[in-house]
Order: sequence, then C-alpha cells, then structure tokens
Amino acid sequence: MTTITNVADLRELARRRVPRAFFEYADRGSYDESTLRENVRALDRIKLRQRVMIDVDRRNLATSFIGQPVSLPLAIAPTGLTGLQYGGGEILGARAAAAAGIPFTLSTMSICSIEQVAAACDTPFWFQVYVMRDRGFTRELIQRAHAAKCSALMLTVDLTIQGQRHREVKNGLAVPPKLTLRNAVDIMGKPRWVWNVLRAPSRSFGNLAGRIGGDSLTTLSQWIASQFDPTLTWADLAWIREAWPGKLIIKGIMDPRDAKLAADHGVDAIVVSNHGGRQLDGAPASIDALPAVVQEVGDRCEVLFDGGITSGQALFKALALGARGALMGKAFLYGLGAMGQPGVTAAIEIIRKELSTTMALCGQTDVAAIDRDALW
Ligand code: GLV
Repeated sequence: MTTITNVADLRELARRRVPRAFFEYADRGSYDESTLRENVRALDRIKLRQRVMIDVDRRNLATSFIGQPVSLPLAIAPTGLTGLQYGGGEILGARAAAAAGIPFTLSTMSICSIEQVAAACDTPFWFQVYVMRDRGFTRELIQRAHAAKCSALMLTVDLTIQGQRHREVKNGLAVPPKLTLRNAVDIMGKPRWVWNVLRAPSRSFGNLAGRIGGDSLTTLSQWIASQFDPTLTWADLAWIREAWPGKLIIKGIMDPRDAKLAADHGVDAIVVSNHGGRQLDGAPASIDALPAVVQEVGDRCEVLFDGGITSGQALFKALALGARGALMGKAFLYGLGAMGQPGVTAAIEIIRKELSTTMALCGQTDVAAIDRDALW
C-alpha cells in the first residue's frame, strides 16, 4: 500500500475497500456531474499569492463557529449512509472530530441514530434535519436532537426534491445493504467492510426506525421522493425555531437573495453549498457563489462553505473569499471508508497541515485574517 500523503490517497483506499454502491454514493454527483466537477475546477483556478520575509513561525488556526471554539476552521458535513462506508461510521466520525477539536454533523439519513452517537461520544455534535411531509415526525427528530444535547441544528434546504444520481440507480443502492447476484463478487471482495459492517450497532437508517416500511428493496431515492417535503418555505422557520431554541444553521444557499432571506430570518449561520454537486446539475461551483453571499449578509450571520474541500489549499481559498470556515463531506467519507476512525483523523490532519503550510507560504499567521489579498 502506498503511504498516505493526501486525501486522494484516502479516496483510492476507500475505493478499494468499500463496496461500489456505497463508495459511488459518496464519490459521485447528479446527472452529468458538471457541478461536481466544477466545484473542484473552480477552486483549482484560484491562485494564491506567495509572500516572503514575514515571520510565520507562529500560526493560529483556531477560531469559532456560532460561538463554539474550533481548532481549525473546518467541520464534518452531514452525509447520508455514513455507517455503510464503515460500520459505526457516524460514531467514529464524531469521535475523530471531537479529538481534533472540530464539529461533527450527524445526518438525518445516518445509519447510527442520534441516540447511539450521543451515547458513544461525550462531545456534543450538530444535527442535520430534512423536513418531511410528516411534520410531527420532523418535530420529533428535532426534539430527539435537543434531548441528545446537540449543539446546533443544521436545516438542509436544497434537497426537497432529489436530483438523480445515475450511479445510485445503476448500482441498485439499497439500505440495509443486500447481497444480490449482481453485487456478490464486489461485496465478497471487501471482507474488511463486511466484518466492520456486521459488527456495527446499525445497518439501516437509525433515525428512521419503523418509518421505512416493509423489507422490500427500498432505495434511498424512492423513500426521499415519498417523504421529503417540497412545500418547505421560509414560513416554516417559525415552527422549526419553536421546536429548536438553539443555534440554527441553514445549508444549501447559493443565491444572495436567499442568503438575505436567511439573515432576515435570524439564522446563526448559512452554508453556501450546492450539495456537493449532488443536486442541481448546472449550478455553478460553490466557491463561485461564495463572494456574493458573503457580501450580502455582511456580519449578520456566519457564512460557512461546502463543496470541494479536499485540501488545506482549498480551505485557504474559501477563507480568503470570506467564509468563516468550511465543511468536509467527501474527504471525511474517503478517510472513513479507507480506515475507519484513524482514516477520518488522517483526513482532518492532512487538511490542517496543508492549511498551516499554505498560510506560512502566503505570509499569513491567523486564519481570521486571511482575506482576498491572499489571492493572486
Ligand atoms: C443526501 O443528503 C445525499 O446527498 O445523498
């Protein structure tokens, strides 16, 4: 095995170790994947300004998100089916994040439940919620997060209707995993995955126990299409606020008008995101949407960034364009799929080290002070 030196190495290891349906669920995007590719390309196009003869011996990477200290301007993004990249993946991710001093976000579509993660970790995590047609159930989820002492609620607003990911359909993605004639060779070739998933506390959607009916082959997209609520509007923030008195983050903002509305509604933070190129194919790169959003909201709420953060250099660029910090989605899942908790730690520490080195080479000593002047 090659020595792991970057997130691409973790991705390659995950590709070899995780069954194709789950690896591609994490790795791929919707439709032609033009937005998925653009997220990366647009970050690549941004160039950094090399500065020299500045004392950069001491560099501060610590800051805060919504009043919570972070050792690095990074959080783990909510990702569905995490516990099927590696058994118990949500618990491992939450533990790695806590040890690294960054927030972990648990997805509604997680495999381990809110309660299982809370019982396994001392550090509070963030909970991501999708609004379902069944508002009573949505409220229940929010209350469960509150009871589990989650320290923020992240409302995802860009997936009320799901963009099609061709690979999910072609792979017959199913939860809980099913051994079929079609995937038998693939799964049997991944004994490490079989072992860790068999020992895991959960193999189906932990938060939705009893909600996904029957044992028919329920694919994720069928379930989402029937349950997620496309009538969601800004007016819903009123009852969500009532159910959730704590910090509220809105994820999935690309347009400054939506950013303004979010700020007008008093959210604590917004996440500029095109859902990692998994929703509206043809949307611009998240990084290209970031500056106008930052300009629109000013200091009315914090702006976090999501979409293409697989290196410290990419994180540096998002900070330079005004983000307070960023979420890691794919990079987290690659680390997890590759090696479980040590893999998540590796992904975080790779990004931390790359950010620190990039700051030094750009003559920057404090993450909070990185601005457009650091770009070429
Ligand atoms: C769910 O959030 C997904 O992107 O699949």
